[in-house]
Amino acid sequence: MSSVHAIAHSYTPRWPEKPDAVHAVELRGVGLSIGDQGILNNIDLAIRKATTTAIIGPSGSGKTTLLRCINYLARPTAGEVWVGGQLVGHRERNNRLVPAGERLLRHHRRQTGMVFQKFNLFRNMSILENVAFAPVSSGICTREEANDRARRLVARVGLAHKLDSLPEQLSGGQQQRIAIARALAMEPKVMLFDEATSALDPELSREVLHLMQELAEEGMTMIVVTHEMSFARNVAHEVVFMENGSIYAKAPPAELFSDLAPERVQTFLAA
Ligand SMILES: Nc1ncnc2c1ncn2[C@@H]1O[C@H](COP(=O)(O)OP(=O)(O)O)[C@@H](O)[C@H]1O
Ligand SMILES: [Mg+2]
Repeated sequence: MSSVHAIAHSYTPRWPEKPDAVHAVELRGVGLSIGDQGILNNIDLAIRKATTTAIIGPSGSGKTTLLRCINYLARPTAGEVWVGGQLVGHRERNNRLVPAGERLLRHHRRQTGMVFQKFNLFRNMSILENVAFAPVSSGICTREEANDRARRLVARVGLAHKLDSLPEQLSGGQQQRIAIARALAMEPKVMLFDEATSALDPELSREVLHLMQELAEEGMTMIVVTHEMSFARNVAHEVVFMENGSIYAKAPPAELFSDLAPERVQTFLAA
């Protein structure tokens, strides 16, 4: 046993990890500044497991940056990001927190799956290959296991008949469903959606929103940046309203979409 382990053990057990039976994600005082510009300010947010949180707010309010901080695509300049009971981006060495190396960071990032407005499937790979790619390349599955998993997930999103197609042979809504399957293939603890339906016309949006609702009902933990107020109202357990890089209001939808909400939120929703 290494001496580092022995010291860690006699100190606090595995300091950058804290078993958390309740929360899938916890942000504590998270901030991100670029120069003297505060893009995110002192964000505190605890997301219970198996819940869906909708994030709404005006353009430029920091919604995308917040999601990027949760999976460390953007490194916060203040505060702590905990995902699945792990302090993202850090490890313990000689009783001190130090930045995680690339390998550990990749492990941390795998705890979150991200779905973007642009689905960005690999154009020259089949649907099966798109979904099986990351589990194989990251070494968490054999090719055979990854293919089995991909077949199951592609069927799950209703596209089993498209396994051998190329992305360009699918509609935008179908491609986004595959992008969701691709994220699920890494078995993330949390799914992050950034305006996943904004590029789709209403009919194709609906099929993607329907899939997202099913995932929510199956108990996936989801954080969903969206302009789809009906999704926020009907599916989310909590709705967060962001403005100027801060959380301005947070409440269950029945409250946030009512005249109990702060006037600023009501004005935004009315627009
Ligand atoms: N890498 C960056 N460099 C400089 N400014 C940025 C960067 N990323 C985001 N911003 C700024 O931060 C603010 C929040 O952006 P963003 O998180 O994309 O907002 P939203 O997703 O709510 O529209 C915006 O003013 C944006 O211009
Ligand atoms: Mg955005």
